[in-house]
Amino acid sequence: MGDEVQRTGIITAMPEELAGVLEALEPEGPAIAWGRRAYHAGRLGGQPVVCAAARIGKVAAAATATEMIVRFGIERLVVTGLAGGLSDALAVGDVVVATGLVQHDLDASPLFPAREVPMLGVTRLAADPGLVDALAAAGEAFCADARLGAERPRVWRGLVATGDRFVATTPSRAAVLEAVPEALCVEMEGAAVAQVAYEYGVRFGVVRTISDAAGAGAEELFGQSLGTLAGAWTVGILGALFGPPRGGTGAG
Ligand code: ADE
Repeated sequence: MGDEVQRTGIITAMPEELAGVLEALEPEGPAIAWGRRAYHAGRLGGQPVVCAAARIGKVAAAATATEMIVRFGIERLVVTGLAGGLSDALAVGDVVVATGLVQHDLDASPLFPAREVPMLGVTRLAADPGLVDALAAAGEAFCADARLGAERPRVWRGLVATGDRFVATTPSRAAVLEAVPEALCVEMEGAAVAQVAYEYGVRFGVVRTISDAAGAGAEELFGQSLGTLAGAWTVGILGALFGPPRGGTGAG
């Protein structure tokens, strides 16, 4: 492939999380539909990407990641969108870059230890260190100018918990923290994409915006954040990652 820049796959769950990115995209052609979702190929900041809103959950995210690898030959995957905060230090609007991901709801014990991916022997799936640095730098660049009320959002790096559960009660929040005590936030796709990336030998990164505190009332805050934060934060961070349209250098 020489010096040709390889394509990045960008995955969100919700269409609202992808909307700003699609506005910024210079499309290569019409969207392509497979598996009841649309794949948008084009350029962001002059760099080749393919984007899709996967729908919510691990299966949808894994199917989308696999299509991007097999059909588009992408060489790295970025998952983005909203997450529920688990650390009390996090505020709505803060940005979390995953250094690693764990499936908090995966449990094939006693055959395998709880949360270990059966027959792969891995529990914590590590994000690509270069992509972690690039996403954190992009988050910092975006947050330097972003405001939520009077507050400037902060960027965090750490462990992210993934599972097929929207966490919206105190007991379910406690259960996720018991399973993955170090987790900064919880979402429903990241570790599934991480597992696919691990299986296919593709680099990946996950960057999330905190929408709620993964406790009572989370669904209401999530709905509000979907309308206000999701699109703007996602395109702001990815815009900083890929650089300005046409000819920008971008990071990563
Ligand atoms: N994504 C955003 N908020 C979430 C929550 N509370 N639980 C799971 N995924 C989320």
